[in-house]
Amino acid sequence: MGTLIKVCSVADLPPGSMKGIEHEGKRILVVNLDGTIHAWDGTCTHEEYDLSMGFLTGDNVTCALHLSQFNLLTGEAVNPPAERPLGKHQVKVANGDIFVEVA
Ligand code: FES
Repeated sequence: MGTLIKVCSVADLPPGSMKGIEHEGKRILVVNLDGTIHAWDGTCTHEEYDLSMGFLTGDNVTCALHLSQFNLLTGEAVNPPAERPLGKHQVKVANGDIFVEVA
């Protein structure tokens, strides 16, 4: 069991939006897809760009640097040049706030 980090309130992350946070140098991307919150490693697996600087389209985030795409339901890289998937973080919603687990 890792540490739970508070991200923001649910109201501050409406469906179709994403937010990047950093904890001890590690980026995490938190996204609301149709009312369900997901959290993934926030660093592109191609050349380590910050995915929160990219664009959310449907269930996919596009890295702003070389346009790799990741599916945020599965973490899979669905468009090159990235090939490796994103690591997943557990999410907890309590008292209207979003928390993510970090190792
Ligand atoms: S760093 Fe993300 S696509 Fe290259």
